[in-house]
Amino acid sequence: MNRDYFPPTISNELGRQALDAAADRNFYARGTSTPTLFEIDGIPVASLVGQFGSPLFVFSEHGLREKARRMREAFRSRYENTQFAWSYKTNYLNAVCQIFHQEGWIAEVVSDFEYHKARKLGISGKDIVFNGPYKPRKILETAIGERALIQIDNWDELNLIEELTKHINQPLDVGIRVWLDASIRPIWSKFGFSVENGEAGRAAERIVKNPNLRLHTFHTHIGTYILDPNAYRVAVTKLVALREQIHIEYKHLVPCLNLGGGFPSQSLLYGMEGPAERVILPIEAYADAITEVLNRLPAKRRPQLRLESGRYLVDEAGYLLTSVVATKGIQRPLAINSNLSAWDYKEQLLLGEDARASYVLDAGVNLLYTTTWYQVNALPSRAINAPPSPSRLYGPLCMAIDVIRYSINLPPLDVGDIVTLHPVGAYNISQSMQFITYRPAVVMIGDNGKPELVRAREVLEDVDGTERLPDHLGKR
Ligand SMILES: Cc1ncc(COP(=O)(O)O)c(C=O)c1O
Repeated sequence: MNRDYFPPTISNELGRQALDAAADRNFYARGTSTPTLFEIDGIPVASLVGQFGSPLFVFSEHGLREKARRMREAFRSRYENTQFAWSYKTNYLNAVCQIFHQEGWIAEVVSDFEYHKARKLGISGKDIVFNGPYKPRKILETAIGERALIQIDNWDELNLIEELTKHINQPLDVGIRVWLDASIRPIWSKFGFSVENGEAGRAAERIVKNPNLRLHTFHTHIGTYILDPNAYRVAVTKLVALREQIHIEYKHLVPCLNLGGGFPSQSLLYGMEGPAERVILPIEAYADAITEVLNRLPAKRRPQLRLESGRYLVDEAGYLLTSVVATKGIQRPLAINSNLSAWDYKEQLLLGEDARASYVLDAGVNLLYTTTWYQVNALPSRAINAPPSPSRLYGPLCMAIDVIRYSINLPPLDVGDIVTLHPVGAYNISQSMQFITYRPAVVMIGDNGKPELVRAREVLEDVDGTERLPDHLGKR
C-alpha cells in the first residue's frame, strides 16, 4: 500500500457499525443485513399465520387512522374548508371503508357495485361522490333520486342526466370532471372534459343554463402516485381560472373544487432507488402546493376543497404474509473459499442469473397486481445470520409471469419461513384475481391490539356458486 494512501474511515455518526454505515450510504451496495418484520402492531407475524393461515392479508387499524389524521391535519390546518372522500376502488373492504367513514370521510365511488356498497354501509346519497366514465342508466336514476353528487364525465352522460332530471322538483347539484395539462405525463385525458380546448367551459355553460341542474363542483384527478406537488399547484390554478371564467360569464361561482387523489404512498416503482422516505415528499408538501393557491383568493371567494385520496391512506397499513413453500437455485453465490458443490458451481457458471437463489411463495401476482410496477419489500420474520444475496421470489401459480420480485437481496431462506410483503394495502384487495386457487383471508388488527377476521378465506362455493350446469351436461 502506498504510504500516502489513507483507507477511508467511516465515522459512527449514523450510530451504526462501520460496515452497515458504509452500505447505508451507498444505494448500490448490498449491505450486510436484511430488514426483518417480527410483528405488526405488537402481534408476532408467526402467531398471525399460526392463527389464521398463510397467505394472509393483514391491515392495521392504527395505521389507517394515523394516516387519515395526518392528512386531515395537513390540509385543515392550512385550509379549514376541506372535505375528504374515500376512494372505494383503492380498497373496498367494509372494515377499511368504515374506518375512513368514522374519521369523517364521505364515499367516492365509480360503479353501481361501489355505489351499492357505500349505501349498504349506511352512507347517504348526498355523501357519495359518483365518478367514472360509464354510469349505467339504472344507477344514475338511483343516484339522482338519492341526490348523490354525480361528477359528469362526458357529453353522452350529460345528455342522459338532462333527460333524467327533466321533471325534477328541485335542481340537482352536479359536478363535472375535467382533464388538464398539469405538467406531468401521461395526461389522463380518458376522463372528463378538456380544459385546454374549451370543452370544459362549454359543458359548464350548458349546466349553468339548465334550470334543473346546479353546477356544484369542478373535479380533476391528474393521475396516481404523483411525485411532484407542483403538478397540483398547476392543476388547482387551472381549476380556479375555469371557475373565474364561469363566474364572469354566467355569474355562478362554483362552490367546490375537487382535486381527486394521486398522493403517493411509501412505495417505489421499478427503476427508482430508495429508500422511499428519501424519495417521496410528505403529504404536507402537497397540502402546501394546493392550499397556497386557494388561500390567495379573497376569503369570501374561496371554494370548498375536496380530495379523494386512496393510495396514500391505505397502502402502508396493508401487509401480505406469505410462506416459503420451496427453495430453488443456488442459495449462496460463489465466493472465495465457499463450499459450493461441483454441481452448484457448474450450474452457477452455466446458468448465471437464472440459477440464483429463488423461493416459491404461497402468494403470487393473482393477489398482488401492483407488483407489476412497484418494488414490494419482502421482509423475513426472523433474523438470519447470513449476508443477503440477489434472490428471486416466485408466486405459486403455474404461470411463468408469476414473479413477485426478479431480484431482491435476501439472506438464505428455508421452507416454512414467513416473508411479509409490504406495502400492499392499495388496490391489491380490489384488483386481486380469482385464479386457480382461493383468495386468502383478511385480518385487521384493531386499535385494541386484537386481530380479527374481516374477510374469510374463499371456499369452493364462493367461486363456483353462481355457475349453472345445463341439463344435458348433468345435474349438480
Ligand atoms: C376519480 C378518482 N379519484 C381518486 C382516485 C384515487 O387515487 P389515488 O389512489 O392515487 O389517491 C382515483 C384512482 O385512480 C380516481 O380514479
